[in-house]
Amino acid sequence: MPAVATDMTTHIKTYVGLMSGTSMDGIDAALVSFVQGALTLHALRTLPYPPDLRARLERLSQNQGTPDEIGEVDHQLGHLFGEAASQVIESSGIPLTDIVAIGSHGQTVRHQPKGISRFSMQLGDPNMIAERTGITTIADFRRRDMAAGGEGAPLVPAFHRAFFGSLTEDRCIINIGGIANITWLPHKDPEQASGFDTGPGNALMDAWCHDQTGRHFDEEGRWASKGQVDEALLADMLTDGYFTAPVPKSTGKEKFNLSWIRTMLARHPGTSAVDVQRTLLELSAQTIAQQLPTASEGKLYICGGGVNNLALMDTLAAACPQYDIESTQALGLDPQWVEAAAFAWLAKQTVEASSGNLPKVTGARGKRILGALYQP
Ligand SMILES: Nc1ncnc2c1ncn2[C@@H]1O[C@H](COP(=O)(O)OP(=O)(O)O)[C@@H](O)[C@H]1O
Ligand SMILES: [Mg+2]
Repeated sequence: MPAVATDMTTHIKTYVGLMSGTSMDGIDAALVSFVQGALTLHALRTLPYPPDLRARLERLSQNQGTPDEIGEVDHQLGHLFGEAASQVIESSGIPLTDIVAIGSHGQTVRHQPKGISRFSMQLGDPNMIAERTGITTIADFRRRDMAAGGEGAPLVPAFHRAFFGSLTEDRCIINIGGIANITWLPHKDPEQASGFDTGPGNALMDAWCHDQTGRHFDEEGRWASKGQVDEALLADMLTDGYFTAPVPKSTGKEKFNLSWIRTMLARHPGTSAVDVQRTLLELSAQTIAQQLPTASEGKLYICGGGVNNLALMDTLAAACPQYDIESTQALGLDPQWVEAAAFAWLAKQTVEASSGNLPKVTGARGKRILGALYQP
């Protein structure tokens, strides 16, 4: 007589992705499964950073802070990343035994991908995540790629290629976080996928909005919409060498920050605060549009928090009329959760001893298995 299964539940193997980007707004946690190439989001959680931590992170990103501060923030973030993982796991009701691994990006506080002493520093002690959850944790995803000569960034293009590529249409995925990055996915040859950071996404708008109004971001871009583009200021901003630099390239808040804005404004005194905000919005849209591949057709799919800035979306659409624009929701993945899902997938790649980088994107000598593994 055949054995009768008492538990009819299909045990699906899942992964947790933990992400906090250059906006330094908080941790996005996603519990994800990948069954036969199909991605499912099972549970989602966002843990905003407390204001004092955010202020410390901002200072560290401007190279202000002692070794003590770096250590303390690493510890505090390790606690919070562990908490975010625990919360998303608990809310899912999925047993711990069905969670293979946690992929934690950590919080970048400095990213210097060029020069002889190249480094990228992510804080959020992974030991604490493994200890808290009892689940294998993978972290430190960027530095193996850097050791292989790459920039360690951006890493999400490999995920975009795996889940958003098409055999019938050329696609460009635009992730608008603090920094914006694009991934070009030509339909004829997936191996030719490319990508890089275009420069500011929300980072400059957020920095100016916070400085002038105390609010961390401009809701839907409404404040910016009340201003006018200062064409001379915009033209000056567009001369920054980053925008025409060759790939590979990646950047962060150590470059595009309030000081960068102030340096520009010193040459354009008298521009009103609201016009500065509108000009920064235009800068983000123009620099993304200018660096898109010169294809005559194709589709743009947007993800990241910038999708909520409606004025930015309108301006971007106007700046690249040759493209249809949608969010990644049209490809079945909520734009808010693409990056967290990417780090769940990167953890899976590491566990399966598969590579996670695209050398054409990061400039690394070859494909590499990324990340360090922290046992449960
Ligand atoms: N309702 C909104 N209106 C305008 N901008 C928003 C809104 N919601 C989020 N954002 C922008 O998105 C950013 C967060 O996006 P996110 O994808 O988390 O970036 P990162 O990966 O850099 O953390 C915020 O800092 C803000 O600039
Ligand atoms: Mg964020």
